Amino acid sequence: MEEMQKYLKEILSESRYKHSLGVMEKAEELAKIYKVDIESAKKVGLLHDIAKEMTIEQYKEYANKNNIKITEQDEMITAILHAKIGAHICKEKFGFTEEMQDAVRYHTTGRAGMSMLEKIIYVADKVEEGRKYDGVQELRKLAEENIDEVIMQIVDFNLMKAVNNRNPIHPLSIEMRNELIKNEKSSV
Ligand SMILES: [Fe+2]
Ligand SMILES: [Fe+2]
Repeated sequence: MEEMQKYLKEILSESRYKHSLGVMEKAEELAKIYKVDIESAKKVGLLHDIAKEMTIEQYKEYANKNNIKITEQDEMITAILHAKIGAHICKEKFGFTEEMQDAVRYHTTGRAGMSMLEKIIYVADKVEEGRKYDGVQELRKLAEENIDEVIMQIVDFNLMKAVNNRNPIHPLSIEMRNELIKNEKSSV
């Protein structure tokens, strides 16, 4: 853990490093509530943005070298690249398991069929203590009770923002939302 923190501190800006510590702490809290392995949650929380400060050229070069497939959708929504490539770096450098890699890989878009660890990281990233936006307090509280509802609210907010700004929407996010709605309907 210490080694990871040291590495991260060297490669990230101070504010992103702080965000990473915030996600680590929030992931730990949520892991306790939802009975997920705490060490794994902390490590993924800490390192989820490990590739966030690389350039597009560096992403492409890294992906080429390591046979990571970048889809056309990924290219349109470049935020997915730091997640995909970050997952690979975490495997290579710190021996992340498949499940931990998935939690890094899908922390931006989400996807249908997320594990509880993936959900925790997706949510911790958006509600860690350093995040400041209208409604974050409510989401933080709700995250302790109903994590799916928080994911739904986050994805809706992001989709509406994308629509308003005429930005593309990643199909994985749509698939995640559809699954949540299906589960909601079947549990009524
Ligand atoms: Fe990220
Ligand atoms: Fe993040």
